Amino acid sequence: MNAKQIAAERAVDYVKDGMIVGLGTGSTAYFAIQKIGSLVKQGMKIKAIASSQASDDLARQLGIPLLEPGNEQQIDVSIDGADEVDTNGNLIKGGGGALLREKILATNSKKFFVVVDESKLVTKLGKFKLPVEIIKFGSVLTLAKLEALGGKPVVRQKDGKDFNTDNGNLIADCSFYPIEDPKALHEQLKQLTGVVETGIFPTEVVTAVIAAYASGETKQF
Ligand code: 5RP
Repeated sequence: MNAKQIAAERAVDYVKDGMIVGLGTGSTAYFAIQKIGSLVKQGMKIKAIASSQASDDLARQLGIPLLEPGNEQQIDVSIDGADEVDTNGNLIKGGGGALLREKILATNSKKFFVVVDESKLVTKLGKFKLPVEIIKFGSVLTLAKLEALGGKPVVRQKDGKDFNTDNGNLIADCSFYPIEDPKALHEQLKQLTGVVETGIFPTEVVTAVIAAYASGETKQF
């Protein structure tokens, strides 16, 4: 079993019969969704809300009952990967472009578990370019503001075209390394009109990070 799978399956230990689970996005969350699928096959009454079309598609293939987010649906546990995790448990997410929906699920869950392999653990955030979701209208102006803050934004591309999020927005990948105060940077960026969300998930959103090593050992913090 590889480290991503070990971390993901450890987090699924927190999923119990009758729970509503938030499904993350990416190659680590993939293993959590697979495991949840096997629990559903064994008869556990789990329902899920997906953070991306890709995770929604995977959950459907596995027979996991899906819900839309709503007031009557309190998410018990969300499980998701991350692109970087600092020593205080702050995250950069959004490498897969799903940061907005991921954050909506994470911040509306009773518990949010982050699952990573050791390659994601860093002292300071920001070597991984910070994804910032921006709306298309006026994007040149929003990009200029990100540039003025020193972010050197680059509009993410896919197949030779601008990458579109599931919400129809753009991603500006920004360079702010080293990010000394992740929450302060997040709040500063959120004040720019045209910025929808940033990939900084401050530590207070996170219940626990489960990191797995190639040796098979795990660390939870
Ligand atoms: C997607 C994300 C992912 O959780 C993040 O990119 C980590 O992905 P992976 O587990 O494939 O390394 O934030 O928007």
